Amino acid sequence: VPAARIRNFCIIAHIDHGKSTLADRLLQVTGTVEQRQMKEQFLDNMDLERERGITIKLQAARMNYKAKDGQEYVLNLIDTPGHVDFSYEVSRSLAACEGALLVVDASQGVEAQTLANVYLALEHDLEIIPVLNKIDLPGAEPSRVAGEIEEIIGLDCSGAILASAKEGIGIDEILETIVEKVPPPKDTVNDKLRALIFDSYYDSYRGVIVYFRVMDGKLKKKDKIYLMASGKEFEIDEIGILAPTQKQVDELHAGEVGYLSASIRAVGDARVGDTITLSSAKSIEALPGYAEANPMVFCGMFPIDADQFEDLREALDKLSLNDAALHFEPETSSAMGFGFRCGFLGLLHMEIVQERLEREYNLDLIITAPSVVYKVITLKGEELYIDNPSRLPSPNERQHIEEPYVKVEMITPEIYVGTLMELSQNRRGIFKDMKYLTQGRTTLTYELPLAEVVTDFFDQMKSRSRGYASMEYHLIGYRENPLVKLDIMINGDPVDSLAMIVHRDKAYNLGRSMAEKLKELIPRHQFKVPIQASIGSKVIASEHIPALRKDVLAKCYGGDISRKKKLLQKQAKGKKRMKSVGTVDVPQEAFMAVLRLD
Ligand code: GTP
Repeated sequence: VPAARIRNFCIIAHIDHGKSTLADRLLQVTGTVEQRQMKEQFLDNMDLERERGITIKLQAARMNYKAKDGQEYVLNLIDTPGHVDFSYEVSRSLAACEGALLVVDASQGVEAQTLANVYLALEHDLEIIPVLNKIDLPGAEPSRVAGEIEEIIGLDCSGAILASAKEGIGIDEILETIVEKVPPPKDTVNDKLRALIFDSYYDSYRGVIVYFRVMDGKLKKKDKIYLMASGKEFEIDEIGILAPTQKQVDELHAGEVGYLSASIRAVGDARVGDTITLSSAKSIEALPGYAEANPMVFCGMFPIDADQFEDLREALDKLSLNDAALHFEPETSSAMGFGFRCGFLGLLHMEIVQERLEREYNLDLIITAPSVVYKVITLKGEELYIDNPSRLPSPNERQHIEEPYVKVEMITPEIYVGTLMELSQNRRGIFKDMKYLTQGRTTLTYELPLAEVVTDFFDQMKSRSRGYASMEYHLIGYRENPLVKLDIMINGDPVDSLAMIVHRDKAYNLGRSMAEKLKELIPRHQFKVPIQASIGSKVIASEHIPALRKDVLAKCYGGDISRKKKLLQKQAKGKKRMKSVGTVDVPQEAFMAVLRLD
């Protein structure tokens, strides 16, 4: 296909504004997917994603469309993930497009995630086509929402398309506008090959399947390729298009989107953002924007049953074949035994991995509270990056500690501004900006320590705004703060997995709340269990769990055997999520206690 008849675009939308429904509708109207094979939400095909209604992995679909000008066009839809954790992947998928549909729910309005992705799209010089979706809803206010888009983003909305993905309204107009407004890719088929990887996944038969956009030149089966960031070379076994299922072709040219397989063993060898070129032309300049996806949030994962340690290692190995951003290394904890310290892009990424490990690999895990990566400057002037609070060098070995900060942007109805400011202030936030938008909606910008955001900031924001506020954040760098290590002792022994790095001014309150919370969460034992919080050698809070008086079974008067069994089963089930720390059984919730304090 000549470049002049190709259009590459993506859809930018806040969660639930109708991206998947619209994508399905476009596939259907162009005849790419037959009505009868139409599975709902064709593009989101991972179970977990479907259950959570979020798109994690980006994918692509190629559609043939005969426009009103009588010409046949190839429209490549490149799917982008919607969540902040995956913003690097969003950026890479945008770099593979020339245009974007900006889908906004006409009964809601612009949200923080829409905004962040629009700014990324503008940075990549994409042509943005505003689409006001869900106009079938009685509460739809397209003109108010159009005004909001003009005000916040500064995008002309006089030509905004009124659509209902659900009812099939405005779909033809969207397709025509894509052909008209989105610029065709540059015709650079005679240049040397450069292709951008915007997604990849591991297939157990063919190895890694790479999704790419050819930026310059052409690529064919049997070509020897060189991946510029990973420095690896492969020979292409298979090349094809996504129509929307994989269909082999002989060659792909500048402007086209497709997939390839080349016996690549792990996604880490063909990472998102990397440039593919030919082995014979390695000296070419790589496409801009490649970055390693660095984990920002860490936690410990320990099998409840020590025998599952090797299974956990195997499971993590397998998952990381498919997830280049997942990091892990063995960790030994005096309290928890052998496990792994794992690093994630963000909280959602962490939850997804945990869920997969438990669901797909049948592992029972104890997971410790999330921590960020601290930068410690030692007395000798070395810089250490500490992702595990229990490894923090002692006060007489360090000059100071720095912690990562993020810029958080919230969009909220005006009436919740007060409570969200209070939340941000409580979390050591620095107020930056507040702007009134249309109809009582407000943007609020704060700089916050990432550590305060990765606990329950998102949940708190949602509950304080009754679900109406949305947020987005990005890393802005490290800052020095008076931070200290808070240790927790159970039955006299420090529990390394409960250690935290906290701000000095918050340490006392936090220590006290932690001790109280642990008292509530840890079950009674046959003996009294003291719980203490300390900074260095100074105990700042102290509680104890009284000993059990009677055997639980005594309640059953020896008579009713089935009742007794039930009680034992109930106990056994409760035990499943316990880890013995010394002689004390500590439940999973206790390790996450810091997330449940307010
Ligand atoms: P994520 O995959 O979570 O990012 O959401 P999404 O943006 O893909 O939204 P999705 O297509 O899943 O739609 C969210 C909800 O809105 C679903 O219940 C859809 O049925 C509904 N929906 C989508 N488009 C329309 C529309 O035009 N009108 C109405 N009434 N409902 C719609």
